[in-house]
Amino acid sequence: MTGKVPFDLAGRRVFVAGHRGMVGQAICRRLAGEKCEILTVRRAEVDLRRQQATEDWVAKAKPDAVFVAAATVGGILANATRPAEFLYDNLAIETNLIEASRKSGVAKLLFLGSSCIYPREAAQPMAETALLTGPLEPTNEWYAIAKIAGIKMAQAYRRQHGCDYISAMPTNLYGPGDNFDLQSSHVVPALIAKIHAAKTEGRGEVEIWGSGRPKREFLFVDDLADALVHLMKHYSDEPHLNVGTGSDVTIAELAETIARVVGWQGKFRYDASKPDGTPRKLVDVSKLAALGWKAKTPLDQGLTLAYGWYREALAQGAVTGGRSRAGAA
Ligand SMILES: NC(=O)c1ccc[n+]([C@@H]2O[C@H](COP(=O)([O-])OP(=O)(O)OC[C@H]3O[C@@H](n4cnc5c(N)ncnc54)[C@H](OP(=O)(O)O)[C@@H]3O)[C@@H](O)[C@H]2O)c1
Repeated sequence: MTGKVPFDLAGRRVFVAGHRGMVGQAICRRLAGEKCEILTVRRAEVDLRRQQATEDWVAKAKPDAVFVAAATVGGILANATRPAEFLYDNLAIETNLIEASRKSGVAKLLFLGSSCIYPREAAQPMAETALLTGPLEPTNEWYAIAKIAGIKMAQAYRRQHGCDYISAMPTNLYGPGDNFDLQSSHVVPALIAKIHAAKTEGRGEVEIWGSGRPKREFLFVDDLADALVHLMKHYSDEPHLNVGTGSDVTIAELAETIARVVGWQGKFRYDASKPDGTPRKLVDVSKLAALGWKAKTPLDQGLTLAYGWYREALAQGAVTGGRSRAGAA
């Protein structure tokens, strides 16, 4: 172990990189309950892909702790059409933040991977040890290579420089601040947006790609933020740790739950000619459970909060067809 646990956040300066994103916003909400000072900087002021700008800002701001929630993220289409950006942006952001943190003496840093970077054929539920044991999912290999490099950077900085830098591997997330653009959104916001549109337009049918049978795990983003603060305080070791709920639902069950939350009574039409993907995807959360953390928000409750946020953002005109940024300063 490189660092001391518990790492007390009280009185610390905590930099949330990517504070306007879904995860960054949730970390800021969670940190508001700690007696720490939250530091943020907008992309227009510091592009984290620029090494000198990042190092200058970190050296001046002097954070004690850093959450790396800044990244270029996106779905299959975005990965397929912008592979260079997925590699370059993510490698640059993580290497710049980690090196800048080392130079300015940041005591603790938490880097975020993603469960989608585990091998395509990993045994379920996916244990932390599954990383790098098989071929990647080809549709997001650019992103995966960069994220794996980030996890390795944190490990290498522990070994060579004695930095207390750790990594978390979150499962699929949803919640306030999500991306509701149907061209690039994940399944939860896409279904919320489609079902809400069917309700407001009086349509009785919504189409869903695939058979509805694949099982997936969904974690409410404020639960993730709580887990990340828990790890920041109580974890100090080289292996990355999974963060999830430990349970999964079929896409059909998810769609039915969203329909109930939205208050729409129509029917789903499953287009089985479209690919289903892996039958099951779930992370093994036993290591995190042993550290004393488990997810609290049931799916229907989290979906109700996410839908409430979406309706408010629509009312404010803050969901534009691109990223929605209601409430993000
Ligand atoms: N969403 C999920 O389901 C999920 C699942 C597992 C892991 N994760 C991980 O969680 C992290 C955050 O994801 P998210 O869903 O919150 O993404 P997001 O909503 O797209 O937020 C990303 C944030 O990074 C910032 N950013 C990107 N490039 C930047 C740059 N060059 N300079 C400065 N800031 C930059 C963005 O700034 P702007 O606001 O200016 O665009 C945004 O605030 C990522 O590492 C992702 O891998 C997410």
